[in-house]
Amino acid sequence: MPSTEDELFPSTPGKFKIDRQSNMLNRQFNRCFASTSTMFLWALFLIALTASYLSFQSFVDSGSRYFSASLGGIQWEKQVRNSAETHRSGGISVLVTGAAGFVGTHVSLALKKRGDGVVGIDNFNNYYDPSLKKARKQLLENHKIFIVDGDINDFKLLSKLFDTVAFTHVMHLAAQAGVRYAMENPQSYVHSNIAGLVNLLEVCKSANPQPAIVWASSSSVYGLNTDVPFSESDRTDQPASLYAATKKAGEEITHTYNHIYGLSITGLRFFTVYGPWGRPDMAYFSFTRNILQGKPITVYRGKNRVDLARDFTYIDDIVKGCLGSLDTAGKSTGSGGKKRGPALYRIFNLGNTSPVTVPNLVNILERHLKVKAKRNYVEMPGNGDVPFTHANITLARKELGCWVTQLYNSTNASIQSLLALIYAKI
Ligand SMILES: *[C@@H]1O[C@H](CO)[C@@H](O)[C@H](O)[C@H]1NC(C)=O
Ligand SMILES: *[C@@H]1O[C@H](CO)[C@@H](O)[C@H](O)[C@H]1NC(C)=O
Ligand SMILES: *[C@@H]1O[C@H](CO)[C@@H](O)[C@H](O)[C@H]1NC(C)=O
Repeated sequence: MPSTEDELFPSTPGKFKIDRQSNMLNRQFNRCFASTSTMFLWALFLIALTASYLSFQSFVDSGSRYFSASLGGIQWEKQVRNSAETHRSGGISVLVTGAAGFVGTHVSLALKKRGDGVVGIDNFNNYYDPSLKKARKQLLENHKIFIVDGDINDFKLLSKLFDTVAFTHVMHLAAQAGVRYAMENPQSYVHSNIAGLVNLLEVCKSANPQPAIVWASSSSVYGLNTDVPFSESDRTDQPASLYAATKKAGEEITHTYNHIYGLSITGLRFFTVYGPWGRPDMAYFSFTRNILQGKPITVYRGKNRVDLARDFTYIDDIVKGCLGSLDTAGKSTGSGGKKRGPALYRIFNLGNTSPVTVPNLVNILERHLKVKAKRNYVEMPGNGDVPFTHANITLARKELGCWVTQLYNSTNASIQSLLALIYAKI
C-alpha cells in the first residue's frame, strides 16, 4: 500500500543501544561530579552498584543495563521464567521478537490466551510514534507478558534469554518495515532484517534444545511479478525495493541455517496486514484522518491510470496463520550446534485472495465514515511500491487451516473495530 505518511517519518529510527548507553553514562558522570559535597554519597552508591553488578557477572558487557532494572539479575530471570511458563498441557514457550509491534502484540496475546508461555523482546525504535508501542506493551503486561527492552542484534542478551528459558519456538517479527523509508535510511533495513536475523539464528542454532522458528517474510518478495495470484513457487528474484530485497535475503539466509544446522524454519509472506493497533504508516490510517479532517487524499495510480490494488489481510487471519505455523513446525533437529537430521523448511503466503483497489478502499472508508473524500489522483512515483498484490493461499489453507475475513464485508466487524481505533488516534 503506498503510504502518504512520509512527513511523519522521523529521520533516524532504530534506537541503538550504544547511544543510549553513552548518554546514560554522561548523565551519570555529570551528576556525579557536579558537586563535591555529594561525591561521598555517590561513591557509596557506586560501590553498591558495583556489588550488585558483580552478582550477575554472567551477564556483563551490556553497559546500559547496569542502571536499568537489573536486566539479567535474579528478579529479571524470575520475570522471564514466569512469563515463559505454559498453562496448558502440551503448551509451547515462545520468544516473540518485535512483540510491541502490530503483529507481535496480537500474536503474543493469542498465545498467552490459549495457555502458552510468551516472552517478548522489542527495541521500541522510533520508526513510528513509540508511544503506540508503549501502549501495546502496557496491554501485554496487563496479560502478564514480560517484554524485554532490547535489540535482536544484542547477542549476549539473546543468549541470556535462552540460558534462562528453553524456548520451544521463536516467533520472529522484529523488522524494519516500510517500503519508501528505505530510500531515506537504507542501513536500518540491513541492521534489523539481515544483521539482526543472522544474530538471532546464531543464538538459536547453538541453543539446546534448538527452537523451531517462524518468521515474517513479506509479499513484497514477489516484486515485479505480473502473474497473479502470487504462488509460493513463483520467482522472487525481482524485488522492487530494498525492503523486499532484505526480506528475500532473509528467506535465503534462513534456508542456509535450516540446511546446515537443522533448524525448523517457516517463513510467512504477509500481505498488507490491517486491523486494530495497526501501524500508523499504513495508508488507511492517513486516509481516514484526512477524510475526517476534510483534507484531500492522494490516491496513486499505476501506468495508464491502472488502479493500484492490495490484498488486505485482517490481523486475526494473520494471527491464525502464525499460530498454525507454530503448531505444525515440528522440531529442529540439531544439537550442540550440529545438524542431526533434516528439519522442515516452509514458506507460506498469508493473504486474503481478494485484492481491493485503492479507490475501492476509499469507497469503503467513505461509507463507514459517512464523509466524502476529496481525491487527488497522482501517478505512482517509482519509489519501490508495486502496483498490486494478490495471494494464492491454497497452501496455507491446506497446511495451516487459514480462513479469511473480507474487508468489503460491512457486516463483518473488522472494518468497524479498525476505524474505532483510528478515530481514537486522530
Ligand atoms: C495456487 O498454489 C497451488 C500450490 O499451493 C497450486 O497448485 C495452484 O496451481 C495455484 N493456483 C493458481 C491459480 O496459481
Ligand atoms: C460477511 O460476514 C458475515 C459475518 O462474518 C458472514 O455471515 C457473511 O456471509 C459475509 N458475507 C459475504 C458476502 O462474504
Ligand atoms: C469476521 O467474520 C468471521 C466469520 O466470517 C468471524 O469469525 C470474525 O470474528 C469476524 N471478524 C470480526 C473482527 O468480527
